[in-house]
Amino acid sequence: MTRYTGLIDRYRDRLPLQPATVPVSLCEGDTPLIRLENIPKLIGRNVDLYVKFEGLNPTGSFKDRGMTVAVTRAVREEGSRAIICASTGNTSASAAAYAARCGIKCFVLIPEGKIALGKLAQALMHGAEVIQIQGNFDDGMRIVKEIADHAPVSIVNSINTYRIEGQKTAAFEIVDALGDAPDYHCLPVGNAGNITAYWKGYKEYHGDGVASKQPVMCGYQAEGAAPFIKGAPVAHPETVATAIRIGNPQSWEGALTAQRESGGWFEAFSDAQILKAQKLLADREGIFCEPASATSIAGAMHDLKTGRIPEGSTVVCTLTGNGLKDPDTAIRQCQVAPAAVPADLEAVKRAILERL
Ligand code: F0G
Repeated sequence: MTRYTGLIDRYRDRLPLQPATVPVSLCEGDTPLIRLENIPKLIGRNVDLYVKFEGLNPTGSFKDRGMTVAVTRAVREEGSRAIICASTGNTSASAAAYAARCGIKCFVLIPEGKIALGKLAQALMHGAEVIQIQGNFDDGMRIVKEIADHAPVSIVNSINTYRIEGQKTAAFEIVDALGDAPDYHCLPVGNAGNITAYWKGYKEYHGDGVASKQPVMCGYQAEGAAPFIKGAPVAHPETVATAIRIGNPQSWEGALTAQRESGGWFEAFSDAQILKAQKLLADREGIFCEPASATSIAGAMHDLKTGRIPEGSTVVCTLTGNGLKDPDTAIRQCQVAPAAVPADLEAVKRAILERL
């Protein structure tokens, strides 16, 4: 039996690292592609609908794919002793973990009061220097880009191309699992690094003949943070899906290229639609993702219902992060309070019988 040791070892020949470079890895990648069984029936559509559950990466989001490559490059090949990022939460959790793994410093800029508690706990537990800014992600990004010229720190946001290189491996895994590319790929779009990365991965595999086709890329945003729908940056992005509360995406061109070249589209969904999709996925399929991730489900369900994604298609939705990251938002939308009864058999029996 060979032990899985992470995506750099698995896809090294497709990554821009030296052959002898030892990876900084937490065995990220190799996440399950789960076929949904109940949602297609619920919406009455005949479709092969899969979710790529990136919430099962070591720090609970897809960011680990990019982080292993970016940190390996920075530390093992460039000799960096510190990394920095702006983040809505997941990048900071991932950067903190990989920095801890290889013993370097990690600085993270997060919007004060606007990140899910689980993500803050992760950054703190991994020993990152957390700097809360009185502004949003876009303000943090602007500062991080400037600071790198003044301090010896490597930026590990997705403007670092090694991040994109790592994240493209999710597309490889999907093709490796299905035997070909899907017809449609749906994902949430925030800073737009991930859609850029998937498209790069799909194009590479198609160009090399590993896949016979490329998917149509569907990028979904939250209504209050939808610069791609507006066609311009949004000054004050707002959404319950704090991971994608972004108004000025850095990979603007990459996302537009993916959309144009694949014949895809962007759409926006309300917070209510996003939360409903999150609950439905948890309720009916047993899969708990964070709100931002559920944007891909809200979008796919909508486009399947309208027929924009035709019946008979193979569709993959990326679930970018784990639901456990944001328990506050989850509990808030569960109206039913847990039963509270005395600690005796009769009381528990009665509670069960009442609810059967
Ligand atoms: N879903 C989740 C759970 C995310 O954390 C992010 C981005 C996205 C979707 C959007 O991906 O930016 O590549 O378009 N989170 C970043 C962060 C911005 O700081 O954690 P994108």
